[in-house]
Amino acid sequence: MTAPKLRLPVETQRLIIRELAEDDLEALYAWRRHPAYRRHLPMPRQTRAAVEAELNAILRDQADYQRLRWLLGVVEQKTGRLLGEAILKLAPATRHRQAEIGWAVAEDAKNRGYGTEIGRALLEAGFGQLKLHRVFAMCSTENCASRRVMEKLGMREEGLFREHFRARERWWSSHIYAMLEGEHRKRQGRSA
Ligand SMILES: CC(C)(COP(=O)(O)OP(=O)(O)OC[C@H]1O[C@@H](n2cnc3c(N)ncnc32)[C@H](O)[C@@H]1OP(=O)(O)O)[C@@H](O)C(=O)NCCC(=O)NCCS
Repeated sequence: MTAPKLRLPVETQRLIIRELAEDDLEALYAWRRHPAYRRHLPMPRQTRAAVEAELNAILRDQADYQRLRWLLGVVEQKTGRLLGEAILKLAPATRHRQAEIGWAVAEDAKNRGYGTEIGRALLEAGFGQLKLHRVFAMCSTENCASRRVMEKLGMREEGLFREHFRARERWWSSHIYAMLEGEHRKRQGRSA
């Protein structure tokens, strides 16, 4: 089974979600380097070299015929500013029609509903364009903002992974939330 393809850009009321480009490095690095970015993410320090290497890998991925991973830039329509990122990762066995989604926004763009707007667009693209059956998201137990985004999106809590990940010399626990295609359809019907 060939992997489904995501058509981009995706436009929302205030945002444009698009492929990242080489000259997005400085904007991406600007929020990745902020201590708040990875406070609740089990990832190593985001040096400029690490962000550049990741961006280069993303640019290579874009040409992959069997692409399973979209790490995308989020632009504010009003200003044209790249202020966040959106991720959608398909499960490698595409017959299961499952994907994980995620989001991040620059520190000075938080709490304006952008995280939720990104999440909603990813759910719509996942169920609409990619015909997925289940879309899930995970966040560390301390990541109250991300958990709140999942709740606002109407995703259902499925459980808690206790100390399932080790990074930065400690154990990390995560909440998992998901939405099924039927649940998404029902929500669409309600908002139509
Ligand atoms: C998670 C993240 C993307 C949310 O983005 P955002 O644009 O601020 O999200 P929204 O404005 O749509 O919603 C945030 C909600 O969390 C709430 N919130 C924010 N900080 C909170 C905290 N410390 N405790 C409880 N709730 C909090 C806000 O009040 C808001 O809820 P409300 O609309 O009911 O008031 C952003 O915090 C971020 O980029 N964090 C760093 C990267 C990250 O952790 N990504 C998630 C990986 S799982």
